[in-house]
Amino acid sequence: MNLENMTIPKHIAVILDGNGRWAKKRGIPRAMGHKAGCETLEKMVRVAADLGVSYFTVYGFSTENWKRSAEEVGALMQLFRFYMVRLLKIARENNVRVKMIGEKSRFAPDIIEGIDQMVEGTRDNTGMTFVIAINYGGRDEILRAAKKMAEDYKASRIQLDQLDEQGFASYLDTAGIPDPDLLIRTSGELRLSNYLLWQLAYTEFYITDCLWPDFNREELEKAIVAYNGRERRFGGRK
Ligand code: IPE
Ligand code: IPE
Ligand code: MG
Repeated sequence: MNLENMTIPKHIAVILDGNGRWAKKRGIPRAMGHKAGCETLEKMVRVAADLGVSYFTVYGFSTENWKRSAEEVGALMQLFRFYMVRLLKIARENNVRVKMIGEKSRFAPDIIEGIDQMVEGTRDNTGMTFVIAINYGGRDEILRAAKKMAEDYKASRIQLDQLDEQGFASYLDTAGIPDPDLLIRTSGELRLSNYLLWQLAYTEFYITDCLWPDFNREELEKAIVAYNGRERRFGGRK
């Protein structure tokens, strides 16, 4: 696809969905779908960096996903362990800085350590920022932000009449990260599933029926072309 003269969205957020359906179609266990999904994620981090995306935020595990069977959650944790190491290597090779959003304390100690290594080990990279949303929920993030803010208020570190939207956003996990320009959801569902509720206020949505394990460079380019055909508005008039 020719992306010449196209604007590359500065921040692309992705809801990777459809690993289970991809596996079901093949008559294989869901865990195999998640493994294929991890491989796609690896590839797409490279592709996004190569296309010149500045921020690439991917929803890997929601605060609600703990409700899945112990078997599936266990398989996902094993995949995190394995792919975190690989992602750290890919990030290093591609000058990618990794950030995590979500609440990490619920993970096993070795997974927390792996997350910290990804973040610390890539802190000084200057290329794309890859944001991984794990044990992430938009409502949970806003609630945690409100609690942190209340602590600051209690300690007289802030004044409520001076707090604006930007000030509140600085309490979110995404502090310092611009809002997404484009949201991609794979596998056709028309919902947010508790993703970036604050940040997606004026983001353009692109929903594709493509299942996440089948997602690739061409699919991302299609989304970018569609984005370029949008007339962005932020509540004002043209
Ligand atoms: C997305 O794939 C991965 C996670 C939510 C962890 P799903 O597991 O939700 O796949 P479907 O929706 O069942 O096809
Ligand atoms: C959203 O997908 C969460 C992630 C991609 C991590 P889900 O498959 O969990 O969402 P629902 O249940 O279809 O809304
Ligand atoms: Mg799903």
